[in-house]
Amino acid sequence: MYKSLKPSHSSALCAAFLATFLSACHASPQSEKVTTTAESAVKVAATEIVVDSGPDLEFRGTISGDPLDFKDGKGDDTPAVKQFKKTGKNPYNNDEAVIKNGYTIFSTACSGCHGHLAEGKLGPALHDDYWTYPGNQFDKGFFETIYGGGQGMMGPQKGLISQDEILQVMSWIRSIYDGDPKKAKWKK
Ligand code: HEC
Repeated sequence: MYKSLKPSHSSALCAAFLATFLSACHASPQSEKVTTTAESAVKVAATEIVVDSGPDLEFRGTISGDPLDFKDGKGDDTPAVKQFKKTGKNPYNNDEAVIKNGYTIFSTACSGCHGHLAEGKLGPALHDDYWTYPGNQFDKGFFETIYGGGQGMMGPQKGLISQDEILQVMSWIRSIYDGDPKKAKWKK
Protein backbone atom coordinates (compact mmCIF):
# COMPACT_ATOMS: atom_id res chain seq x y z
CA MET A 1 0.00 0.00 0.00
CA TYR A 2 2.71 2.42 1.09
CA LYS A 3 4.87 1.49 -1.84
CA SER A 4 2.18 2.10 -4.42
CA LEU A 5 1.15 5.45 -2.92
CA LYS A 6 4.59 6.95 -2.62
CA PRO A 7 5.51 7.47 -6.25
CA SER A 8 2.22 9.12 -7.21
CA HIS A 9 2.32 11.28 -4.08
CA SER A 10 5.76 12.60 -4.85
CA SER A 11 4.98 13.16 -8.50
CA ALA A 12 1.94 15.19 -7.47
CA LEU A 13 4.18 17.28 -5.25
CA CYS A 14 6.58 17.66 -8.08
CA ALA A 15 3.83 18.84 -10.42
CA ALA A 16 2.60 21.33 -7.84
CA PHE A 17 6.09 22.67 -7.39
CA LEU A 18 6.59 22.93 -11.10
CA ALA A 19 3.30 24.73 -11.56
CA THR A 20 4.17 27.26 -8.87
CA PHE A 21 7.64 27.67 -10.25
CA LEU A 22 6.44 28.14 -13.80
CA SER A 23 3.69 30.59 -12.93
CA ALA A 24 6.11 32.52 -10.75
CA CYS A 25 8.47 32.80 -13.70
CA HIS A 26 6.02 33.66 -16.44
CA ALA A 27 2.72 35.05 -15.24
CA SER A 28 3.64 37.02 -12.16
CA PRO A 29 4.85 40.43 -13.35
CA GLN A 30 1.89 41.01 -15.65
CA SER A 31 -0.87 39.68 -13.41
CA GLU A 32 0.51 41.65 -10.47
CA LYS A 33 0.16 44.86 -12.43
CA VAL A 34 -3.44 44.14 -13.43
CA THR A 35 -4.51 43.33 -9.86
CA THR A 36 -3.01 46.52 -8.49
CA THR A 37 -4.88 48.68 -10.99
CA ALA A 38 -8.20 46.96 -10.32
CA GLU A 39 -7.81 47.20 -6.56
CA SER A 40 -6.97 50.86 -6.52
CA ALA A 41 -9.94 51.62 -8.79
CA VAL A 42 -12.27 50.02 -6.26
CA LYS A 43 -10.69 51.91 -3.39
CA VAL A 44 -11.06 55.21 -5.19
CA ALA A 45 -14.71 54.45 -5.85
CA ALA A 46 -15.42 53.71 -2.21
CA THR A 47 -13.77 56.78 -0.72
CA GLU A 48 -14.00 59.57 -3.24
CA ILE A 49 -17.56 60.81 -2.76
CA VAL A 50 -17.50 64.08 -0.86
CA VAL A 51 -20.89 65.57 -0.06
CA ASP A 52 -21.13 69.29 -0.87
CA SER A 53 -22.76 71.69 1.55
CA GLY A 54 -25.77 73.69 0.39
CA PRO A 55 -29.39 72.90 -0.37
CA ASP A 56 -30.82 69.95 -2.25
CA LEU A 57 -32.30 70.42 -5.72
CA GLU A 58 -36.03 70.00 -6.13
CA PHE A 59 -37.02 66.64 -7.61
CA ARG A 60 -40.41 66.24 -9.27
CA GLY A 61 -42.34 63.28 -10.63
CA THR A 62 -41.95 62.91 -14.42
CA ILE A 63 -45.70 62.38 -14.90
CA SER A 64 -47.29 64.21 -11.96
CA GLY A 65 -44.89 67.15 -11.73
CA ASP A 66 -45.37 67.01 -7.96
CA PRO A 67 -42.37 67.13 -5.62
CA LEU A 68 -41.06 63.61 -5.00
CA ASP A 69 -41.48 62.20 -1.55
CA PHE A 70 -38.16 60.72 -0.50
CA LYS A 71 -39.53 58.80 2.47
CA ASP A 72 -39.38 55.43 0.77
CA GLY A 73 -38.76 53.39 3.90
CA LYS A 74 -35.40 52.20 2.61
CA GLY A 75 -33.45 54.46 4.95
CA ASP A 76 -30.14 54.46 3.14
CA ASP A 77 -29.20 57.98 2.26
CA THR A 78 -25.67 57.09 1.21
CA PRO A 79 -23.01 59.73 0.40
CA ALA A 80 -23.72 59.13 -3.30
CA VAL A 81 -27.45 59.77 -2.84
CA LYS A 82 -26.80 62.89 -0.74
CA GLN A 83 -24.36 64.30 -3.26
CA PHE A 84 -26.65 63.46 -6.18
CA LYS A 85 -29.52 65.41 -4.59
CA LYS A 86 -27.32 68.52 -4.46
CA THR A 87 -25.85 68.34 -7.96
CA GLY A 88 -28.23 66.21 -10.06
CA LYS A 89 -25.16 64.36 -11.34
CA ASN A 90 -24.74 60.69 -10.59
CA PRO A 91 -21.42 60.26 -8.73
CA TYR A 92 -21.39 56.57 -9.74
CA ASN A 93 -21.08 57.24 -13.49
CA ASN A 94 -17.88 55.66 -14.89
CA ASP A 95 -17.21 53.73 -11.67
CA GLU A 96 -16.48 50.23 -12.94
CA ALA A 97 -17.18 48.40 -9.67
CA VAL A 98 -20.54 50.12 -9.19
CA ILE A 99 -21.49 49.66 -12.86
CA LYS A 100 -21.02 45.91 -12.47
CA ASN A 101 -23.28 45.86 -9.46
CA GLY A 102 -25.74 48.09 -11.27
CA TYR A 103 -26.10 45.45 -13.95
CA THR A 104 -26.91 42.81 -11.33
CA ILE A 105 -29.68 45.05 -9.96
CA PHE A 106 -30.95 45.82 -13.48
CA SER A 107 -31.13 42.09 -14.22
CA THR A 108 -33.53 41.49 -11.35
CA ALA A 109 -35.50 44.75 -11.23
CA CYS A 110 -35.75 45.98 -14.82
CA SER A 111 -34.67 43.46 -17.48
CA GLY A 112 -37.99 41.57 -17.42
CA CYS A 113 -39.61 44.59 -19.09
CA HIS A 114 -36.66 46.41 -20.70
CA GLY A 115 -34.70 43.38 -22.00
CA HIS A 116 -31.47 41.86 -20.70
CA LEU A 117 -29.28 44.53 -22.27
CA ALA A 118 -31.90 47.29 -22.09
CA GLU A 119 -32.64 46.69 -25.77
CA GLY A 120 -36.37 47.08 -25.14
CA LYS A 121 -39.18 44.55 -24.68
CA LEU A 122 -42.41 45.55 -22.95
CA GLY A 123 -40.78 48.86 -22.05
CA PRO A 124 -38.58 50.92 -24.39
CA ALA A 125 -34.85 50.53 -25.06
CA LEU A 126 -32.74 52.53 -22.62
CA HIS A 127 -29.30 52.46 -24.30
CA ASP A 128 -30.00 54.81 -27.23
CA ASP A 129 -30.70 58.54 -27.46
CA TYR A 130 -34.45 58.31 -28.02
CA TRP A 131 -36.33 59.26 -24.87
CA THR A 132 -40.10 59.45 -24.44
CA TYR A 133 -39.33 61.88 -21.64
CA PRO A 134 -36.52 64.23 -22.79
CA GLY A 135 -35.63 64.92 -19.16
CA ASN A 136 -34.08 61.44 -19.07
CA GLN A 137 -31.12 62.82 -21.02
CA PHE A 138 -30.08 64.30 -17.69
CA ASP A 139 -29.38 62.18 -14.63
CA LYS A 140 -31.83 64.23 -12.57
CA GLY A 141 -34.73 63.50 -14.93
CA PHE A 142 -33.62 59.88 -15.29
CA PHE A 143 -33.79 59.43 -11.54
CA GLU A 144 -37.17 61.20 -11.35
CA THR A 145 -38.63 58.77 -13.93
CA ILE A 146 -37.23 55.66 -12.28
CA TYR A 147 -38.01 56.67 -8.71
CA GLY A 148 -41.42 58.22 -9.38
CA GLY A 149 -42.49 56.06 -12.37
CA GLY A 150 -43.83 56.63 -15.87
CA GLN A 151 -47.12 55.58 -17.47
CA GLY A 152 -48.84 52.22 -17.13
CA MET A 153 -46.51 49.30 -16.43
CA MET A 154 -43.64 51.63 -15.52
CA GLY A 155 -44.61 51.95 -11.87
CA PRO A 156 -42.56 53.93 -9.35
CA GLN A 157 -39.47 51.98 -8.34
CA LYS A 158 -39.60 53.85 -5.03
CA GLY A 159 -39.60 51.35 -2.20
CA LEU A 160 -38.78 48.43 -4.51
CA ILE A 161 -35.10 49.25 -4.77
CA SER A 162 -33.23 51.86 -2.72
CA GLN A 163 -32.25 55.30 -4.01
CA ASP A 164 -28.62 54.21 -3.97
CA GLU A 165 -29.51 51.14 -6.05
CA ILE A 166 -31.31 53.39 -8.56
CA LEU A 167 -28.07 55.39 -8.96
CA GLN A 168 -26.18 52.11 -9.45
CA VAL A 169 -28.62 50.94 -12.14
CA MET A 170 -28.38 54.35 -13.81
CA SER A 171 -24.58 54.10 -13.94
CA TRP A 172 -24.85 50.78 -15.79
CA ILE A 173 -27.43 52.13 -18.27
CA ARG A 174 -25.21 55.15 -18.98
CA SER A 175 -22.22 52.83 -19.47
CA ILE A 176 -23.93 51.03 -22.39
CA TYR A 177 -25.11 54.24 -24.09
CA ASP A 178 -24.61 54.02 -27.84
CA GLY A 179 -26.56 57.07 -29.01
CA ASP A 180 -25.24 60.34 -30.40
CA PRO A 181 -22.45 61.53 -28.05
CA LYS A 182 -23.77 65.10 -28.39
CA LYS A 183 -27.03 64.00 -26.81
CA ALA A 184 -25.31 62.50 -23.76
CA LYS A 185 -26.34 65.54 -21.76
CA TRP A 186 -25.71 64.05 -18.33
CA LYS A 187 -22.01 64.37 -19.07
CA LYS A 188 -22.14 68.18 -19.19
C1 HEC B 1 -43.36 45.95 -15.29
C2 HEC B 1 -42.52 46.38 -16.39
C3 HEC B 1 -41.42 47.38 -16.10
C4 HEC B 1 -40.44 47.32 -15.13
C5 HEC B 1 -40.21 46.26 -14.06
C6 HEC B 1 -39.60 48.49 -15.33
N1 HEC B 1 -40.06 49.22 -16.38
FE1 HEC B 1 -39.29 50.99 -17.06
N2 HEC B 1 -40.81 51.15 -18.39
C7 HEC B 1 -41.79 50.21 -18.62
C8 HEC B 1 -42.72 50.71 -19.61
C9 HEC B 1 -43.94 49.97 -20.17
C10 HEC B 1 -42.28 52.01 -19.96
C11 HEC B 1 -42.95 53.02 -20.90
C12 HEC B 1 -43.84 53.90 -20.01
C13 HEC B 1 -43.94 55.34 -20.41
O1 HEC B 1 -43.56 55.70 -21.54
O2 HEC B 1 -44.39 56.15 -19.57
C14 HEC B 1 -41.08 52.25 -19.17
C15 HEC B 1 -40.33 53.42 -19.23
C16 HEC B 1 -39.11 53.61 -18.60
C17 HEC B 1 -38.27 54.78 -18.75
C18 HEC B 1 -38.55 55.99 -19.63
C19 HEC B 1 -37.85 55.81 -20.98
C20 HEC B 1 -37.98 56.96 -21.93
O3 HEC B 1 -37.92 56.70 -23.16
O4 HEC B 1 -38.11 58.13 -21.52
C21 HEC B 1 -37.16 54.57 -17.98
C22 HEC B 1 -35.98 55.50 -17.82
C23 HEC B 1 -37.32 53.29 -17.35
N3 HEC B 1 -38.51 52.74 -17.73
C24 HEC B 1 -36.37 52.71 -16.50
C25 HEC B 1 -36.61 51.56 -15.75
C26 HEC B 1 -35.67 51.01 -14.81
C27 HEC B 1 -34.28 51.56 -14.53
C28 HEC B 1 -36.28 49.93 -14.24
C29 HEC B 1 -35.74 49.04 -13.13
C30 HEC B 1 -35.36 49.70 -11.89
C31 HEC B 1 -37.58 49.78 -14.86
N4 HEC B 1 -37.74 50.79 -15.79
C32 HEC B 1 -38.48 48.77 -14.56
C33 HEC B 1 -41.91 48.98 -17.99
C34 HEC B 1 -41.17 48.58 -16.88
